[in-house]
Amino acid sequence: MERKWWHGKTAYQIYPKSFMDSNGDGIGDLRGIIGKLDYLKELGVDIVWLSPIYCSPLADQGYDISDYYAIDPRFGTMEDMDELLAEAKKRDLHIVMDLVVNHCSDEHIWFRKACEDPDGKYGKYFYIEDHRPGDPLPCNWRSAFGGSVWSPLPGHPDKIYLHIFHRKQPDLNWENPEVRQDIYKMINWWLDKGLSGFRVDAIINIKKRLPYEDYPADRADGLCSIEYMLANAHGVIDFLDEMAENTFRRYDAFTAGEVFHEKPEDLPRFIGDRGVFSSMFDFAETILNQSPLGWYDTKPVTAEQYKAACFASQKRVEQVGFLCNIIENHDEPRGVSHYIPAGQCTVAAKKMLGGLNFMLRGLPFLYQGQEIGMENRRCTSIEEVDDISARDEYKVALDAGLTPEQAMEAVNRFSRDNARSPFQWDSSPNAGFSEGTPWLPVNPNYTEINLAAQREDPDSVWNFYRKLIALRNDPAYREVVVYGALEPYMPEQTNLMAYFRRSAEQTLLVLGNYQNTPQRAALPGTIRTVLINNLHTLQQDDGSVCLEPWQFVVLELEDRS
Ligand code: GLC
Ligand code: CA
Repeated sequence: MERKWWHGKTAYQIYPKSFMDSNGDGIGDLRGIIGKLDYLKELGVDIVWLSPIYCSPLADQGYDISDYYAIDPRFGTMEDMDELLAEAKKRDLHIVMDLVVNHCSDEHIWFRKACEDPDGKYGKYFYIEDHRPGDPLPCNWRSAFGGSVWSPLPGHPDKIYLHIFHRKQPDLNWENPEVRQDIYKMINWWLDKGLSGFRVDAIINIKKRLPYEDYPADRADGLCSIEYMLANAHGVIDFLDEMAENTFRRYDAFTAGEVFHEKPEDLPRFIGDRGVFSSMFDFAETILNQSPLGWYDTKPVTAEQYKAACFASQKRVEQVGFLCNIIENHDEPRGVSHYIPAGQCTVAAKKMLGGLNFMLRGLPFLYQGQEIGMENRRCTSIEEVDDISARDEYKVALDAGLTPEQAMEAVNRFSRDNARSPFQWDSSPNAGFSEGTPWLPVNPNYTEINLAAQREDPDSVWNFYRKLIALRNDPAYREVVVYGALEPYMPEQTNLMAYFRRSAEQTLLVLGNYQNTPQRAALPGTIRTVLINNLHTLQQDDGSVCLEPWQFVVLELEDRS
């Protein structure tokens, strides 16, 4: 595999609205981010992905873009963006933006023109169909946030348009070459500005199976998940290859695709030497136990499931490329709340989960607040919830016969607000995030869990992440940590997640005791050095170690091991 500039890096996702508010309006902004670049540097990250900051009505928190060439005034100005790029460059930080091109906002000029004249040029930028009220819809696909993918075209009672996500997110018609050219032009405009690349949003959806057809309904609403259509759509790679050829490859940009449900044979076309993207996220763990019925029907993830999913992903890509490894992002619950059983979310457990994920082969991708072990924020009523997905799932749960309390339970486990509550900088009011009223309340646990406190504490989650990043950057271990092969170790031992990382010269053994009771693990060789330990001691006797509850270690083994 060809070596790339980004391979040894550590990446970090910022959700700008909730990172740092510089002017007291309760909304995080670009100047807030600029003020924290030294912090990111100190943490040790190299690549920073910003969730969308383009002009947007914020119907889906910026994933509904009304102008790709402008910064939303709530986040700042284009001058702020230029300054951010310049300041990042000074610090050797790479800025990556979100590329949201499956759809735009219904307030984008293209869609407004399409509404003015559906038969004109811009009508062809979207999927618009004739439809008389009362007639059957072209297909029974369900949109991601509930209801049909079809909505009436504003101003045209006899027409409808397609949106895989919210009705304020009309899908762009990638079959139209003019749409594609406009998108490539925009991408290059940003890359010319000095951007290092993009995280590519919802990209599998750009290829629709046409002509439209129904699939068997999977809920009482008579609709079906979009997954059925995606499984039957072919040709997404042709679009993406054309995009890469016209944009990313010309700049050696770093790109991370948000790709779900790719076809196995397409993997080498998505990532790796022949890939359209540099990398893509590993969602195998995040989709564990997902139920077609909705959040309310989703069982908690066990240690064994987590381990099996990680190892399967590693196996799938070992000959192909690198995945971006995550425990959470802005669409997921906090990893520590999701993957550690309720009531057991200790500092040690948080470090174990982080360590096991970080040491996998691939690009470690941290999400803001993960480095201090931020947790889900509970809501007591649906009125407190902002997330449009959570509001839909609440309704789905009620329709299925759950009580409001039970429906809120499901919302609290999965709401995207969990990861969107403001970053907890210190123990001052609003966790130091804003001097105004935060757009989404801070997690009341900020007085306990905050960066300022963790800086002072050598045993904090934050200092642990710093050690992991330092190991990745250490010239003595870089080769094995970045490029070393991953080989599962004793995968059948319950609640032990263990693997080797091997290079020609070195062998590391990563061990995590994924339970709240001690556990013995046989050693395959002799320990040379304990490189990382989330506790202070490691109990060893001949040929084995006895791991404390949630203990996590990275061991360097002697050569012959
Ligand atoms: C992606 C984003 C998510 C958004 C959706 C529609 O999944 O991560 O936040 O709602 O795409 O753009
Ligand atoms: Ca602000």
